[in-house]
Amino acid sequence: IYEDFVQCFKNVTTITDNDLSDVVLPRTSVSFTPTLRAYIRNARFNTSSTPKPSIIIVPRVDSHVQAAVICTKTLNLQLKIRSGGHDYDGLSYVSAVTFLVLDLSNFRNITVDLNDGGGSAWVQTGATLGELYYRIWEKSEVHAFPAGVCPTVGVGGHVSGGGYGHMIRKFGLTIDHVVDATIVDANGQIHDRKSMGEDLFWAIRGGGGGSFGVVLAFKVKLVTVPKTVTVFRVDKSVDENALDMVYKWQFVAPRTDPGLFMRVLLSSPTQNKTSTVNTKLRALYLGKADDVVSKMNEEFPELGLKKEDCKEMTWIQSLLWWMNHVDVDKVKPEILLEREPDSAKFLKRKSDYVEKEMTKPELNRLFQKLATLDRTGLVLNPYGGSLNVTAVNATAFPHRHKLYKIQHSVTWPDAGPEAERLYIGNLRTTYNIMTPFVSKNPRSSYLNYRDIDIGVNDHGADSYRKGEIYGRKYFGENFDRLVRVKTAVDPDNFFRNEQSIPTLPLNR
Ligand code: FDA
Repeated sequence: IYEDFVQCFKNVTTITDNDLSDVVLPRTSVSFTPTLRAYIRNARFNTSSTPKPSIIIVPRVDSHVQAAVICTKTLNLQLKIRSGGHDYDGLSYVSAVTFLVLDLSNFRNITVDLNDGGGSAWVQTGATLGELYYRIWEKSEVHAFPAGVCPTVGVGGHVSGGGYGHMIRKFGLTIDHVVDATIVDANGQIHDRKSMGEDLFWAIRGGGGGSFGVVLAFKVKLVTVPKTVTVFRVDKSVDENALDMVYKWQFVAPRTDPGLFMRVLLSSPTQNKTSTVNTKLRALYLGKADDVVSKMNEEFPELGLKKEDCKEMTWIQSLLWWMNHVDVDKVKPEILLEREPDSAKFLKRKSDYVEKEMTKPELNRLFQKLATLDRTGLVLNPYGGSLNVTAVNATAFPHRHKLYKIQHSVTWPDAGPEAERLYIGNLRTTYNIMTPFVSKNPRSSYLNYRDIDIGVNDHGADSYRKGEIYGRKYFGENFDRLVRVKTAVDPDNFFRNEQSIPTLPLNR
């Protein structure tokens, strides 16, 4: 494969032999393993038995990406596109079939322009969210961008899959702020929004980039935030009426001021070495502490929020606080630039959407079960606000008019099939308990919380049918338009992975 690939690569680019050894890495290259491991964020896929790519391509310029597409297609192999490597089930760098990895970690340019309307940025997809936040902050303390709170997440997967963070209620999803993009299509051609057309531009905002092409960069509009924002945390044990707090949270968090985002984390006792379920509330308010305290005293007295629970800071500091730095004055924003190689833990995630509040007895059953499970948790993210005003087909991401989203989560320290069976089993237990209380027909999932339990595709004869199983869960009715776009822009299904959008079968 390597000889044929290199021959093709040299034919379609002007690369020198010297540069080639840094750009196209065979398994024998000393850079192969460090490069592969640098962006593996789930230790389950960092073992000696994990299938490895035949070649890793680490492009430096656009023409290398074009050549990677053309040459992989010529060899009729699968190309895995990796930006930040945070795919929870490793689909950007693992496969059971022969595959190559296109590693975009060199594509990290960010250009911020505060004079373009209310401010905008072109950001290459191999940049991290932390780098984007930092580059904005370098120019202005009152400009920001609404995306995920973990700084090492890659722009490529995060933005094309939807993207949300602690300003979702005020500003909506990350994709709601994307105004242009550049992409390499299945013929190796580069397009911007104008030349790719509105259908493809619609699809790569929430439909996942990996089914349609290699996204090189996104142009995003910035938002403005107050000079002072407020964060607070409230932790309650079951004895301190945690259940009442979570029950009431369901009514308040999705309906209160859109400038207030209150996330709840429920975790099994073993995670924190306590005897009951742990209940933590973490919040960002886009305004002053006095305002949010009086608002909460009126709307949510069960929280018992006091001014001394709150901390006022700048928006960039709120990101550091969200990264668990308690004293944000002692941490420099430069920490957002760290990429943390090899920091992977063993983990599995699943997602759910809640449309109706759970009753206290129902929540109680969840608490009781959670108390018996090891290292398992649920993260509850309120929706409402801006999410309610955008149509579900405005972008490919369909799950807008919901009460809250759940991330089911389990993270464990030890390798091996036994640990994996135990902990993933725990996760599936909370997922099963939640069945009656979450979206149905189909049960919805968030693409960026990749979960191969909901269906996979080998792209054989019944690729469409298999694709429809996970596709409807991720995209609802938007699945049909995604299939039409896919069939138009990539009829040979070159850009495929275990959960990509299938093409329409010939008889339909
Ligand atoms: P990765 O490189 O693994 O890519 C993910 C998928 O996108 C793959 O299918 C890949 O092929 C495709 N892809 C990547 N780059 C592409 C490109 N340039 N063109 C086309 N396709 C491309 N989510 C969220 O919404 N809010 C949050 O706060 C968080 N927080 C968070 C924390 C942590 C620690 C993790 C591990 C994950 C999250 N996520 C999240 C989920 C995250 O948004 C999701 O995993 C993204 O897809 C990750 O994007 P990466 O580029 O890092 O992943």
